[in-house]
Amino acid sequence: MENKNYLVSGGSSGIGLSIAARLIERGSQVISLSRSEEKIGRAKQERPEIADKVDFITGDISKPGDVEKIVTYVEEKYGVLHGLVNNAGVLTKGTIETISLEDWQFTLDVNLTGPYILTKALLPFLRKAEGASVVNISSVAGLKPGTSVAYSVSKAGLDMLTRFLAGDLGPYDIRVNSVNPGLVRTHIHLDNRVIEDREAYKAMLEKARPRYPLGKIGMPEDISSAVTFLLSDEAKWITGSILTVDGGVMVENDLIPPKNTHKS
Ligand SMILES: NC(=O)c1ccc[n+]([C@@H]2O[C@H](COP(=O)([O-])OP(=O)(O)OC[C@H]3O[C@@H](n4cnc5c(N)ncnc54)[C@H](OP(=O)(O)O)[C@@H]3O)[C@@H](O)[C@H]2O)c1
Repeated sequence: MENKNYLVSGGSSGIGLSIAARLIERGSQVISLSRSEEKIGRAKQERPEIADKVDFITGDISKPGDVEKIVTYVEEKYGVLHGLVNNAGVLTKGTIETISLEDWQFTLDVNLTGPYILTKALLPFLRKAEGASVVNISSVAGLKPGTSVAYSVSKAGLDMLTRFLAGDLGPYDIRVNSVNPGLVRTHIHLDNRVIEDREAYKAMLEKARPRYPLGKIGMPEDISSAVTFLLSDEAKWITGSILTVDGGVMVENDLIPPKNTHKS
């Protein structure tokens, strides 16, 4: 992966920042695309060792005008992309009765339409690489109802986009896979205000933990290791797969209580 170019959307926080750091460790060039300068500043404080190495740029993946500017930037500075990680995502609360149309639309725009816009726009650069890889960061909520109706539906749609694009882009030797995390400690719940404060966040993690057979909530590094594998040539015959990386929460069974009670 040395000297290869990767674009990671949402590389300024949580899982995306961990993916960016792993790629930098492997000698890759990483472009991170996210909206706010504030989170880029926070990322540089959290990971000073990669602060000057990641090419942090700003833009909104759900806005075609922003993505057009990114295309020009990638064309002029990089010319070719060996991989794309559609990681940027938002969380919104609500059931069918409580979610507003605005929140529904916003969630689908960022989590589903964003990856469609970005992948389509960057396709010419991915086609130039030999054996490019696209990884979509979905969720276990795309596989079974969870978190909120809009979020679950957006991630289920993203999983189908993964499968569809794997078929469409295989002839160009571009692989497309999905990584579906369980609950991971990041800024997503607090930044998107779906949980009011740190105490409530801690309580939510503690409440969720017994549902994880491995007895632990995930860390960003648990996800980024799977993502770098799928980006690498080690995974060169893997496409169209939906890989859960979830501490076993998808196989949790009420009748078999978790045996492991390690804290994370
Ligand atoms: N944490 C979990 O428990 C969990 C579980 C399953 C799946 N996931 C998925 O994993 C991915 C990463 O989540 P995370 O937990 O690492 O979240 P996070 O810490 O909130 O990071 C999200 C990143 O996405 C960026 N972003 C959000 N909207 C964007 C937009 N419209 N355009 C460009 N960038 C945007 C954010 O920066 P700006 O706000 O500055 O744009 C930030 O860099 C998401 O797709 C999420 O759904 C997370």
